[in-house]
Amino acid sequence: MLNHVVNRFIDRQRWLEPVADVLQKLIGGFYKALGGPGHSLKTFLHGTWLGHPLHPVLTDIPIGAWTIAILFDLSYVIERSHGWVSAADVTIFIGLLAALGAAVTGYTDWNETIDRERRVGISHGLLNTLVVVLYLVSFILRVTGGSRGLAILLAYAGYLVLVTAAFLGGELVFSIGTGVNHHAWQEVPTKFTKVLLEGQLAEGVLIKGVAGDTPILLHKKGDTVCAISETCSHAGGPLSEGELDGSIVQCPWHASRFDVCTGQVKGGPATISQVRYETRIQNGQIEVRRSEDTLQPN
Ligand code: FES
Repeated sequence: MLNHVVNRFIDRQRWLEPVADVLQKLIGGFYKALGGPGHSLKTFLHGTWLGHPLHPVLTDIPIGAWTIAILFDLSYVIERSHGWVSAADVTIFIGLLAALGAAVTGYTDWNETIDRERRVGISHGLLNTLVVVLYLVSFILRVTGGSRGLAILLAYAGYLVLVTAAFLGGELVFSIGTGVNHHAWQEVPTKFTKVLLEGQLAEGVLIKGVAGDTPILLHKKGDTVCAISETCSHAGGPLSEGELDGSIVQCPWHASRFDVCTGQVKGGPATISQVRYETRIQNGQIEVRRSEDTLQPN
């Protein structure tokens, strides 16, 4: 199987690890140096405002633009009409602009990865960086009156690398599960289900309970008992081991922030809110069921 061969090849590329170390230090250091605004910028680039990772939205644009550019270039080669030249140049430029956005969002998402996900991710990122360089040189040749033949060849070479990189992007999502909602397959109680003894829930702390097989994060403030999913939607981190700051819980793995009562995501890298549960107390037992107004899509 092709993906098996590709993954084994990537796993043998030991040089990727030090490159990834340096890049993650640079990217993480950049956002950290910017302080609060850096965190807001990072959250924006992850796509938290969109409720969906921003990177895959942007990647469609260069793929589409450069696919059309191939046809325009081919038409020029066949017909030698100047109209095809302008059309190809404009679509390549549009693709370049979108590719820059895709690169920034992609490297920002990748910065939170580890192990195999990190290796495949950096391979995907480096190949796409090469794609941008090839298309940029092609574009410069086009607008400066350089060799049109070489510009077309570079664009075609870039497209081949682009397809390879896109394959790895699919591998990241479909095989490794990068960026997917970690609640998607979790059982969510829709009828009131016992989760914890009332006496086990102390005021102002985070406690993990279990409803059926589903881990639930519980928090008591005064007479109110709040419950949201315990498993972080970003990559499955345990929220009960996170830090509580007022009504916000911060995931211990990559610092996503959620409202502990509504489940709403307040800071990335997570883009999807936690499941919100209604709570009630029956015979000394806390019970939960999925809330009608949960912000979680599943
Ligand atoms: S698992 Fe990544 S922020 Fe929670």
